[in-house]
Amino acid sequence: MNQRSALADGQDMGRVVVASNRGPVSFSQDSRGELVARRGGGGLVSGLMSVADRADLLWICAAMSEDDRAAAQRTPGGRLDLDGTAEIRMLDIPAGVFAAAYNSVANSTLWFVSHLLYNTPVQPAFGPEFAADWAAYREYNTAFALALAESAPGPGTQVLVQDYHLALVPAMLARLRPGARIAHFSHTPWAPPDYFRLLPDPVARELLEGMLGGSHAGFLADRWADAFLDCCETILGAAVDRAARRVHHRGHACSVGVHPLGVDAASLRHRSRETDVEAHVQALTEATRGRQLVVRVDRTELSKNIVRGLAAYRELLATHPELHGRVTHLVFAYPSRHDLPEYRDYTRNVQRIAQQITAEFGTPDWEPLILEVKDDYARSLAAYRLADVIVVNPVRDGMNLVAKETPIVSDRGCALVLSREAGSFAELGEHALAVNPFDVTATARAMYAGLTMPRAERDRRCAALGAAGAAMPPARWMASQLDALTAVTPA
Ligand code: G6P
Repeated sequence: MNQRSALADGQDMGRVVVASNRGPVSFSQDSRGELVARRGGGGLVSGLMSVADRADLLWICAAMSEDDRAAAQRTPGGRLDLDGTAEIRMLDIPAGVFAAAYNSVANSTLWFVSHLLYNTPVQPAFGPEFAADWAAYREYNTAFALALAESAPGPGTQVLVQDYHLALVPAMLARLRPGARIAHFSHTPWAPPDYFRLLPDPVARELLEGMLGGSHAGFLADRWADAFLDCCETILGAAVDRAARRVHHRGHACSVGVHPLGVDAASLRHRSRETDVEAHVQALTEATRGRQLVVRVDRTELSKNIVRGLAAYRELLATHPELHGRVTHLVFAYPSRHDLPEYRDYTRNVQRIAQQITAEFGTPDWEPLILEVKDDYARSLAAYRLADVIVVNPVRDGMNLVAKETPIVSDRGCALVLSREAGSFAELGEHALAVNPFDVTATARAMYAGLTMPRAERDRRCAALGAAGAAMPPARWMASQLDALTAVTPA
C-alpha cells in the first residue's frame, strides 16, 4: 500500500462519494408533525466530517423509514444538505424492496453468515422466498449503482462503498462507469469458506465477484481480510497473491487491505466532559454509591453475546459472595433491528436474565445490576468514564469500538475484558483480559481479575489500550483507503 497519506499531506482529496445503507442523518416528526433531521454518530460519520473541508463530498444512502422517505421526496433525487459540510442523497427505494434487501438478505442472511450466527440444524433454509429476497437485494444494489453512476462521472472521482448491504455495487458501478476508482469496505468480520458456503453457490459467487469488481476491498482486521482471500480462492478459484494481498479474477485485479478503524481521542475526550455527560456521571455515582462497576454498552445484537455476559456476572456473584453489595453491573443495551423476531426475542431474554439476577442476589440496599434498553450516548460515555471493568465479549465482531473508546475516556483506569473473536483483539489483546466468548466461567474469572487488579497495573494497561485505540482515527482511516485507491489501477 502507498505509505504517503493524502490526509497527512494536506492535499485536496477531490471528489469523494460515499455509499452506505444507513446515512449520516435520519428524520422523525416533532410534536407538530414537522420533519426534523437528526445527525447520526459513529466512525464513518466522524471520519467523513473531519475531511469535509478537504474534499468535495457526496454521501448516498437509503431512506430507512417513512419519515426518511417523506424527507427524500421533498427534494429532487432526495438531495439534502448536512450543515453545509456534505451533500447527501437519500434514495427513496420502494419500501418492499428495501425491507427484503435490508431485513431478509443483509441482516438475516449476510450478517448471520459473517458473524457465524446460524443454528445450523434448522437454519438457514434457502427456498423460493429467498430467491425473491435476493432479487430485491439486487434491485436495491442496482439503485445505488445507478445513483453513483449519475453522481460520480469524473475519472478522478473516488467511490467508497460501505458494508454487506452493498456488496454487489462495485461490480455494477464498474460496468456502468469503466475506469471509476471504487473501494468497498466491510465493517463486519468475514466468514471462513466452510461457513460462507452455506449460501447458495450462485449467491456466494455473486457476492464475491461483486466486491472484487472494484479496485480495492478493505477490512478491519487481518483475520477478516485473510478469510475473504480464502473464499476468493476456494469458491471462485481466483488467483490470490497472499504476499501482495491481491486477487486476480476474470482478467481483473483487486487489492485487499486492512484499515483498522480507531477513535479520534481528542474529540471523544472533549465530548465525554460536556455537561450532559457530567450530569450522568453524577447521577450514576449517586445511584451506585461508590461501588465497583462492571460496565457493558452494546446494541441489543445477537453477536454481542449479552446473554452469556450476564450468565458470567451471575457466576461471578455466585462464586464470590464477598462481592455482594460491593459491585454493580451497568448494562446499557440499546435497541436494534427490532423488525427481526430474533432480535425482539433476544432483547426479552436479556431483560429476563437481568430480572433473575436482581431477584436472586438483590437486597433492599443493593441493586446488583442496572439494565437500560434505551439509547443515550451521554449516559454511555458517563458509564465508560466510571467503569472499573468494561466487558466486550462478542461471539464475533468486525472491530468493536467500545473496547477502544472506553480506555480513552476512563476516569478510573478501567480493565478490559475482551473477546478474542473481536477484530480489535489484534490491537488490544496484549493489554486486555482475553476471553473465549463461549466460556462463561472464564468470562466470570476475567471479570474477577479485572475487579481485583492492582490500581497501578490497571492504569498502565488502560494507558496502553487508549494509545492503541487512538492509532488510526477515522480521518486517517479514510485517507488510508483513498491512498490505497490511488495506488491501484482503476477498475
Ligand atoms: C454494523 C454495520 C453497519 C450498521 C450498524 C448498525 O456496525 O457494520 O453497517 O449501520 O451495524 O446497524 P443498522 O442495521 O441499525 O444500520
